[in-house]
Amino acid sequence: MAKVTIQKLHDMKENGEKISMITSYDYATACVVERSGIEIILVGDSLMMTVMGQDSTVPCTVDDMIHHIKAVVAGAPSPMIVGDMVFGSYNVSREQAIETANRMMKEGRCDVLKLEGGREVAHIIKAIVDSGTPVMGHIGLTPQTSSKMGGFKVQGKGEAAGEVLADALAVQEAGAFAVVLEGIPEALGKLITAKLRIPTIGIGAGRYTDGQVMVFHDMLGFFDKFVPKFVKQYMNLNEDITKALIQYKEEVKEGAFPEECHTFGGVTDEDLERLY
Ligand code: KIV
Repeated sequence: MAKVTIQKLHDMKENGEKISMITSYDYATACVVERSGIEIILVGDSLMMTVMGQDSTVPCTVDDMIHHIKAVVAGAPSPMIVGDMVFGSYNVSREQAIETANRMMKEGRCDVLKLEGGREVAHIIKAIVDSGTPVMGHIGLTPQTSSKMGGFKVQGKGEAAGEVLADALAVQEAGAFAVVLEGIPEALGKLITAKLRIPTIGIGAGRYTDGQVMVFHDMLGFFDKFVPKFVKQYMNLNEDITKALIQYKEEVKEGAFPEECHTFGGVTDEDLERLY
């Protein structure tokens, strides 16, 4: 597959072709995503929960992100690779945000960045875009500030729908090339998608967004602490891996593994006799 560009994503929206996006945090999974033909990889700060076992994305650092982005870039040359800007790395000032963006692009070598927030960060999005780095927005349920929202709750219900629409328009106006819509009613996802020129990528935002994003560990049944309503589990990787590990353990204990085909030759009985 040719490298996925911003232009390609805009053409896909124009042509009504849906965009697929998935998280990845390491080389091995990036290689698998590369083979799948999925257009966008997000190296998301969700890795704090799925990989590091924390109860929030907040502790993730810029160094953590750069470490994981490097691994994903090495495994997936074709998809667009989005690096996630972490909590506290862009909310102090425009200068701080541009410095973080520069580090992530130069050291991580991802293609674009994503950051959470609507109208309150529009000036930051504009500053990063003007400094030369493309930005994907992320509005609705924003995990980094979920405690302010009273937890992982659907946003934009009832009259609050207008707030999320205003955020979407502000993010587009600030120069974002696409926006993630997370945890909002389906009808609102449909309206925002119709109103925006830039592609919308939904997660728990219904069926009518321009694309969908899922967390790798959620959709493969590899993270089972909790399974949000919007997740479809395409397989139960936990179950399959556990079965394989139990079989390995039993074969070690029974002496059934390793078999002769897993061993190395190269020394004869005569060679060894001299050593006894
Ligand atoms: O970090 C992440 O995985 C995300 C997705 C939930 C969009 O931001």
